[in-house]
Amino acid sequence: STVLRLLTIESTCDETAAAVVTDGLETLGAVVASQTDLHERFGGVVPEIASRAHVERILPVVDEALRQAGLTLADLDAIAVANRPGLVGSLLVGVAAAKALCVATGLPLIAVNHLQAHVYACKIASGEEVFPCVGLIVSGGHTNLYRCDGPTDFTPLGGTIDDAAGEAFDKVGAMLGLPFPGGPAVSKAAAQGDRNAIRFPRPLLDDSGRLAFSFSGLKTAVRYRIESPDAERDTPLSEAERNDIAAGFEEAVVDCLVGKSELALRQAGFDTLCVGGGVAANGRLRERLGESAEKHGYRLYIPPMSLCTDNAVMGAIAVERFRAGKFESLDLDVHPGLER
Ligand code: KG4
Ligand code: ZN
Repeated sequence: STVLRLLTIESTCDETAAAVVTDGLETLGAVVASQTDLHERFGGVVPEIASRAHVERILPVVDEALRQAGLTLADLDAIAVANRPGLVGSLLVGVAAAKALCVATGLPLIAVNHLQAHVYACKIASGEEVFPCVGLIVSGGHTNLYRCDGPTDFTPLGGTIDDAAGEAFDKVGAMLGLPFPGGPAVSKAAAQGDRNAIRFPRPLLDDSGRLAFSFSGLKTAVRYRIESPDAERDTPLSEAERNDIAAGFEEAVVDCLVGKSELALRQAGFDTLCVGGGVAANGRLRERLGESAEKHGYRLYIPPMSLCTDNAVMGAIAVERFRAGKFESLDLDVHPGLER
């Protein structure tokens, strides 16, 4: 049988990405244009700037993915695009581009759920059947646990009631005067600090039985620690203090993520955990989940860094829909919110 080739487009937040993948989950071409430099001075993603940058970059990014694959649009079998969830303006650019390419080529259009794609990245990276599994998605916009009976069969188990974990990393990074995005910078500082020097709260962790996260109070606790008068705060934070705060914060977040993942596995009765999203790039989280998996005897899948943060390769989940004959009409809509 012949190989199917799909172009996949991802523009849900602030990365403009495209890939060419096969139904054997091979990557023939993959491009990610990051917008970090554009949002840096605002300390967070500015939706309007993100949309405009997507408009400028989307076609060059698609061209480069095809060039890497040594293919043209005529060699493809379908075009897939993430249409949920995400920033509405960002989603619209990717979806409009995918539709235009479908009109121009006559190729079928496939919709991708960005969160399901993050979990599917575990299957792509490992080459193993990871379903059924519990999915933990931790990024700048999401911190959710899912019961995943199949690639596109997700049931929400719980999530954050306020900030996402990545958002907390980013805000704490800003409070500590570290560069944007805070996640990698806080993690780097934490590696130099003593994670037992300062004990921050673990919100909801002891609320046994409840699959929920809360990172807003933890963020506030960090702010109080930075501002506390007994810390002789006339001078700026010393590097050692800053590193200890980063390490204590990181440890608190990781404790919550690991503890609730273990609980979700017990409640679902599954023995496989798949992790996705930018925060899954965090070294301490990977290490602690590894220890947990060994202790409790579950299978753990965390993709390499490039497949944890937003990318189009994970859009290869569209192969599942292709096989099921699930194609979209050209009035495909975007769905910014989490529901469904
Ligand atoms: O999945 P992603 O690329 O974009 C979405 O939010 O959808 O995730 C980005 C988030 C940011 O909040 C960033 O600070 C965080 O992932 N992040 C990290 C690390 N690398 C990225 N957080 C903690 N440790 C890291 N090493
Ligand atoms: Zn994402």
